[in-house]
Amino acid sequence: MSRWQRLSLAGVPVAIFGLSAGAVLAGQSIGTAASQDTTIPVAAVAAEQPAEPALPHTVFTADSVEAQDAPDVRDVDCRQLKCVAITFDDGPGAQTVELLDMLRTENAVATWFPVGQVAVDRPGMLRQIAKAGHEIGNHTWDHAQLTLRDDASIEDEVGRTARAIRDITGTRPRLVRPPYGAVTARVASELGRLGDPVILWDVDPLDWKYRNADHVYSSVMAQVQPGSIVLLHDIHATTVAAVPRILRALAEQGFVFVTVSELYRGSLRPGEIYHARHHLGR
Ligand code: NI
Repeated sequence: MSRWQRLSLAGVPVAIFGLSAGAVLAGQSIGTAASQDTTIPVAAVAAEQPAEPALPHTVFTADSVEAQDAPDVRDVDCRQLKCVAITFDDGPGAQTVELLDMLRTENAVATWFPVGQVAVDRPGMLRQIAKAGHEIGNHTWDHAQLTLRDDASIEDEVGRTARAIRDITGTRPRLVRPPYGAVTARVASELGRLGDPVILWDVDPLDWKYRNADHVYSSVMAQVQPGSIVLLHDIHATTVAAVPRILRALAEQGFVFVTVSELYRGSLRPGEIYHARHHLGR
């Protein structure tokens, strides 16, 4: 069991619960890999930029280290705060590093769903994403439409990608976003057997279709609610261009940026499908 060190980043108090490691993801333990590559960067960012206004977060960081098979989950109470989980699919892309800078500027974390065969071509970028404290999920090896695949093929698509990401970052991804959002009960069940929850979204600006930063910004802001999961693609320059405005506008409205696992406070269940966590207080 890891020991946890509390880092207060802001004067805004949030409720702190005795979240046990076992509660974060069923059957998994929380830990931070011994590798020097692995840090909890939100804390690092705070340490480097003490003058920056901090998010109303309490950050937990493991100071002893065990096997890394779960994301670093800050204990954020999204029943009380206006949380939003921004997600980036299909990368890493040419502008991913720039995007990481934008997120760091706003002290924001996100969740990334890289395609396996893209990630292995850009392992350095994937490591940077992981080191910056973001969560990394699984978007299959070659952007497969899983509803058209048999169970063995689904296992191959997800398993191969998970192993590749684990080999690069030290952490096995435990969230699957099925390409095209294509999921059936059978696909979800198979993903559940593999141990992975299914992460969809409720905010979609169709950024792959409307390659226009103004549209992406306006569409996100028109749809977003507390508890939303926002679908973006970091492979499109127009999307990346919209991100600073989106982050600033959301922050001004009091939103707190969380990873998908943080949004659900580590209670995601394998095989279940998640679109958003709108219902504050539940
Ligand atoms: Ni995709």
